[in-house]
Amino acid sequence: AKTYKIAVLPGDGIGPEVMKQALKVLEKLQTIYDFSLETEEADVGGCAIDKHDTPLPDSTIELCKKADAILFGSVGGPKWENLPPEKQPERGALLPLRKMFDLFSNLRPAIVFPQLADASPLKAEIIGKGFDILIVRELTGGIYFGQPKGKEKDRGFDTMLYTREQIERIAHSAFKAAEKRNKKVCSVDKANVLSTMVFWRETVTEIAKQYPDIELSHMYVDNAAMQLVKNPGQFDVLLCGNMFGDILSDEAAMITGSLGMLPSASLGEKTTDNGAIFGLFEPAGGSAPDIAGKGIANPIAQILSAAMMLIYGLGQEEAGNRIFKAVDKVLTEGYRTADIHSEGCKKVGTEEMGNLITQAL
Ligand code: NAD
Ligand code: IPM
Ligand code: MN
Repeated sequence: AKTYKIAVLPGDGIGPEVMKQALKVLEKLQTIYDFSLETEEADVGGCAIDKHDTPLPDSTIELCKKADAILFGSVGGPKWENLPPEKQPERGALLPLRKMFDLFSNLRPAIVFPQLADASPLKAEIIGKGFDILIVRELTGGIYFGQPKGKEKDRGFDTMLYTREQIERIAHSAFKAAEKRNKKVCSVDKANVLSTMVFWRETVTEIAKQYPDIELSHMYVDNAAMQLVKNPGQFDVLLCGNMFGDILSDEAAMITGSLGMLPSASLGEKTTDNGAIFGLFEPAGGSAPDIAGKGIANPIAQILSAAMMLIYGLGQEEAGNRIFKAVDKVLTEGYRTADIHSEGCKKVGTEEMGNLITQAL
């Protein structure tokens, strides 16, 4: 049986609360399947600033380097948002981790569980039979990382920059994902205004020639934001640069019912000694300071991120799919956390939702 090393970084706010539920689920799975997980926790983000005076301690980096996968909660909060940028949880820990391990391909599946149609702010006729969109977001380039960037007395600036190689590899990720799905890629850009995005569109179009059975379309980001609420069912894979993918993924999450439902996988090209594809797996949402400490956060995004770790990272597809089925079952039974609650359902807290999903495995 294989043993995988997992670096567990719960982080701040609701991070530790939802991570506890994901670990419970993983614990149970090891009694069902023939693999084991050696988990080790480390500090990251605001809690690491408080304890070690840095959001990303060397010991945390070392743990990640030895691991087959990083299971990440979320970082940040009001307490740390006035520190200098590079000392903040987001810019001092999460972004450097993504960059350091070259995790350029961020997969964010927005799936409507039909049982949750009532929780979506969209009308039932728009949700239809449900939808299943995969956002493929470039994660280590674009305006997040382009140089120069800075803040001076009377101006602030960032640089949006993409190289051919960066666009090509994320385009390959999107086309390969589409091959296993409904064979459609919609590339999102702002080629009517931004030169970076003219180059993005040209480069994606060029790579598409290697995937003749995939239907490629292009859409401006403002239109895409609108189309997502008008008719989300038209999309299969949405290919986005770093910032547009960030924005559209929160939107896509919400139309599935809640940001607390959206998991993600951030992958690079590195394979570990164990045959795993190294990656960082985290919910798309943040530390949710408004509900932290109340025991009401939805743990499903974190639990499904653990499922994505099994499927995309460790190659334990059956075990990962079993988590998706368990979540589906618990939702069918009518259990809901506050964020996805609607009339006639049974309201449960974070811990209880974690227990129900664990039992349903
Ligand atoms: P947020 O995603 O934390 O919260 C937005 C809204 O969604 C809030 O109302 C919150 O209660 C709700 N929400 C999010 N996750 C939920 C869950 N699991 N269950 C129920 N409701 C949930 O975004 P924000 O408030 O803009 O940011 C808060 C902090 O989190 C900031 O410091 C931000 O930088 C950080 N952040 C971190 C990550 C990450 O670590 N990956 C991602 C996004 C934001
Ligand atoms: C996300 C988050 C991060 C991002 C922040 C916290 C740096 O919003 O993962 O979506 O913008 O990538
Ligand atoms: Mn985001």
